[in-house]
Amino acid sequence: MTPPTDRYQRPIDYLRVSITDRCNLQCVYCMPLGGAVKLKHEDILSYEEFLRLIQIAVNMGINKVRLTGGEPLVRKGVVDFCRRLTRISGLQSLSLTTNGVLLEELGPDLYAAGIRRVNISLDTLKREKFFRITRRDEFDRVWRSIQAAERVGFNPVKINVVVMRGINDDEVLDLARLSLHHPYHIRFIEFMGFNNDRQWNLQHYFSADEILEKLRQVGSLAQVAPEHSNGPARHFRWPDAPGMIGIISPISHHFCPTCNRLRLTADGKLRNCLFSDQEVDIKTPLRQGATDSELSQFLRDSIVNKPEKHSLQPDFFRKCQSRPMVAIGG
Ligand code: 5AD
Ligand code: SF4
Repeated sequence: MTPPTDRYQRPIDYLRVSITDRCNLQCVYCMPLGGAVKLKHEDILSYEEFLRLIQIAVNMGINKVRLTGGEPLVRKGVVDFCRRLTRISGLQSLSLTTNGVLLEELGPDLYAAGIRRVNISLDTLKREKFFRITRRDEFDRVWRSIQAAERVGFNPVKINVVVMRGINDDEVLDLARLSLHHPYHIRFIEFMGFNNDRQWNLQHYFSADEILEKLRQVGSLAQVAPEHSNGPARHFRWPDAPGMIGIISPISHHFCPTCNRLRLTADGKLRNCLFSDQEVDIKTPLRQGATDSELSQFLRDSIVNKPEKHSLQPDFFRKCQSRPMVAIGG
């Protein structure tokens, strides 16, 4: 089935679904200071509602779904939800982005439910720094989860690192070196200043070119084209390394021309661009008894109106702040 396209002829085949805005960490770049305003329980879609919308999206030709949060694994019943999702025929890929805190515990059940692909966030290899970044002392659990994920058989195990100048840019090489000994994909993401503090945003931005420069100090890095990748990362590998390195540069090299994604928030809003506040409310019609074909029209509207691109300034994110990142899901 061919995926729907937007007005710039981009095929939209990927839906990121935020199943909760709750999180058991409080990363400085994601949560506003003092915590985010939480959605009311009745405003959060039930699993039945998510299943219906995802089935409709798949019927339209969307074939990849990623579950995000907040932290998706804090929502009760997530394993069973995954089991029901992996049964949707036409859904070719179901993956999960997690902070790893609960993955050691839930990993085997998630694998049994049919999940094969996980992204785990880890910005530092140091316990104390982990506490400074996430405001929680959970480094050991996350690290054990990463090792457990490999044992359980998730493939690929991707590790997301948000690089922040003066915070963890000194660990780029150590984190990248994990790819020399493990089959991990280490993905470095340019920090996007989503909070209100302009000074913090600019100070901590660390560009993809600077990341690559550090990596090249270690030895020749070959650019590779991995299978099954149509995401925004550029991929590299050191000779003989079992793992890979990815660079995701939303600021310095924007990937808008190949953007294939749509987002559904926990409270039932469709968002067609991470950097735009444009939202389509699909929850209200869903709860008022709209038919499948009426609901698919809301999805189509959001897709058609997808912005062409965002500007490339590291501080432009201040303009789009109707929701903190934790309520969008990355
Ligand atoms: N800048 C860059 N990446 C971010 N993420 C969350 N907030 C930001 C930000 N401000 C990433 C997290 C996680 C994914 C869901 O989004 O690292 O891997
Ligand atoms: Fe939680 Fe992820 Fe946001 Fe960190 S980045 S606070 S782990 S949702």
